[in-house]
Amino acid sequence: MDHLKAMLKRRKVGHSLEGDFYHSQAVLDIEYKAIFEKEWVFVGNSSEISNPGDYITAMVGRNSVILLRKKNGEIGAYLNSCRHRGSLICLEKKGHSNRLVCPYHQWTHDENGALIHAGEMPSTFDPVKHSLKTVNLQNMSGMLYVCVSDNPPDFENFKSQVEPYIGPHQPYRCKIAHEESIVEEANWKLVVENNRECYHCASSHPELTFSLTAFAMPDDPRADDFFTELMPKMVEKWEKLDLPHKPVLGGDKFRCIRLPFINNALSMTMDGSLACRKLLGDLEEKNLGSARMFHVPGNWNHFCSDYILHANVTPLSPERTQLTTKWLVHEDAIEGWDYDIEHLTRVWQTTNEQDCTLASNNHLGTQSIGYEPGTYAESEFMLTDFTNWYAAMMEKYLSEEV
Ligand code: FES
Ligand SMILES: [Fe+2]
Repeated sequence: MDHLKAMLKRRKVGHSLEGDFYHSQAVLDIEYKAIFEKEWVFVGNSSEISNPGDYITAMVGRNSVILLRKKNGEIGAYLNSCRHRGSLICLEKKGHSNRLVCPYHQWTHDENGALIHAGEMPSTFDPVKHSLKTVNLQNMSGMLYVCVSDNPPDFENFKSQVEPYIGPHQPYRCKIAHEESIVEEANWKLVVENNRECYHCASSHPELTFSLTAFAMPDDPRADDFFTELMPKMVEKWEKLDLPHKPVLGGDKFRCIRLPFINNALSMTMDGSLACRKLLGDLEEKNLGSARMFHVPGNWNHFCSDYILHANVTPLSPERTQLTTKWLVHEDAIEGWDYDIEHLTRVWQTTNEQDCTLASNNHLGTQSIGYEPGTYAESEFMLTDFTNWYAAMMEKYLSEEV
């Protein structure tokens, strides 16, 4: 603990973190409590559980949670931990059941998490005291965020600023066309840091940068003539369509902006053609660029005219991180007619593999005795935001709770 405090004290703003931040189990143990059990964490999309009885599970740090669609249409959010002896109840990533039955001794819960069957328990046993524990849930146009703390931080500022950008893409009226999880041999913060800058994009992501501009701001000082001429034309179009585009003021916790695609691309695909012929929501214009949105600790998203990409990071250990990516299309889009999975997913699958290699190289290099925190480039300003947010969360926890 003293070591962590000392590392935070000598941290230099605008620099990468000291090596032990990326390699220590003791640091991760604090991060679970200081970050993942305090913040709102993205867990999935409401369209994954459209029918009563549909459920998904997701990790909030080290806590598995269950999100279950109830008969009245509401979503129940519970800790996936049996009140008998603690077993996971739902073992799959998704499923369908009107009752949540623990696989160990078959304690059975209704859709509200109430315990309705527990065999062989003494007459003094009170089932009411053994319901599943609920967690706080927020739904932003279908994007579900959970906070497992009893005192969740404000969500309204994020929601009120970001929802106007993503609302027109109607994430709640989608379906998951494809989903996959990969495990990266890197600390979760290195995986996030890698995502928060496009300094590496030109050399590492030829497929992604066919459509995606490496510039993160409309007035990026590195912008070329093509981008400088394109931007005002797209601004005019977005404003006509009532689509907000300016960077939101999310401080260091979240970010949202709408930016054009380059090379006349309509979507983030290998050749820039649409990934899905049926556009999202009620959109009619194909050429919209994309809204990009990030929320701490590790959720990034792209909202195109034709598909949505959700990505989310979960630490498994100091050196292993799970990255889950979901590709969503309009709920009425037909596979093989409106979209093809390979065409839809290829760019981001390739990008994820490339980033996986970069992050694991980064992780291995930071355990060298020669590693010292390095200076961020100007275009890496989002890493300064991320590490400032991270350090503030850790310092707050250490000052209040230890
Ligand atoms: S641990 Fe769930 S029924 Fe025993
Ligand atoms: Fe990358």
